[in-house]
Amino acid sequence: MGTFGELFGSPAAVSADAPGRVNLIGEHTDYNGGFVLPAIIPQRTRVELARRADRRVRVWSANVEPASRWAEFVIGEESPTRTWVDYVQGVTVALRRRGYALVGVDLRIESTVPLGSGLSSSAALEVSVARALRSACDLALDDVELAMVGKWAENEFVGAPTGIMDQMAVSLGQPGTALFLDTRTLGFERVPIPPSVELVVIDSGVRRRLVTSEYATRRAQCEEACRLLGVAQLRDVAMTDLPKIEALAEPFCRRARHVVTEDERVLQAVAALRANDPGQAGELFYASHASMRDDYDVSAPPVDALVEIASSDRDVYGARLTGGGFGGSIVILARAGSGSRVAARVAERYQAECAQRATVLVP
Ligand code: GLA
Repeated sequence: MGTFGELFGSPAAVSADAPGRVNLIGEHTDYNGGFVLPAIIPQRTRVELARRADRRVRVWSANVEPASRWAEFVIGEESPTRTWVDYVQGVTVALRRRGYALVGVDLRIESTVPLGSGLSSSAALEVSVARALRSACDLALDDVELAMVGKWAENEFVGAPTGIMDQMAVSLGQPGTALFLDTRTLGFERVPIPPSVELVVIDSGVRRRLVTSEYATRRAQCEEACRLLGVAQLRDVAMTDLPKIEALAEPFCRRARHVVTEDERVLQAVAALRANDPGQAGELFYASHASMRDDYDVSAPPVDALVEIASSDRDVYGARLTGGGFGGSIVILARAGSGSRVAARVAERYQAECAQRATVLVP
């Protein structure tokens, strides 16, 4: 694995990094103007960079097949390739569109954030590249704008119609806290994770197909529900309006019910964490999972089994599918100090009962 000096012939001038994230609760609410509660994880993406005298960008990534490690483009001439370098190009285009002046750079990327596990490896890449460019080119860019640059890259350049949660979590998250974010205003508060609990993250190993198109379909169904309800965003629908939602046709009824009840669960989970009430927070995790499974249809049978297995563990307060879904990881709220034992027990039972390979990602 080449060092920066070995790859580019001289040392890096700047390095920057960004973590992955796990969402505690508030799923598929971000593109509906709602609330989310993500936290950062220990795995990080690290970028080393040196400025060049021309406008070329040469990039090397340790995290892809040896044959596709090198990529190259020219600032001002970016064009989509449908490969990993589009996340980098998307960031340079987003920065230029906002009026920031860039120069060519050499970039080395290395990441421990797992790909495809629902833990925002793409946001970690976008934010770490934007951070490295911010310091190399002295850009007056704050952390919220930096998150918006990452989202633009993802939505407009890569073409994935995601919300703002991942980039905000990765850009603004701090260890030991969860980021309680209002995705409508981008106002946020950091909520300490109480000392009574510990987070466990386990990858189910399941990957459902057509993730991007399924995600886009859910998003379109929410937009149609808004049209039917006569509101701009599902955030504008109150819990007291649930009878109106239940009168909608399928699947709009279930999609909207998930989003509106999930927003409420985020608010209740924030209150439960602040009151150091892990039992209550855990119940909200289970309710969120059931809603993603039954109303939003983004779970999968092995993921449901993994949550079920976790729920019967004596040291577990709650568990749920985390991230966009269609496979991926679960997050468990466990008793403090029990995390690694819980993870080992749950993963072992899952492998024995479901013939699937579980990967413990946190702790
Ligand atoms: C993905 C998207 C986020 C969010 C989640 C679901 O992670 O990138 O914007 O919509 O799915 O909560």
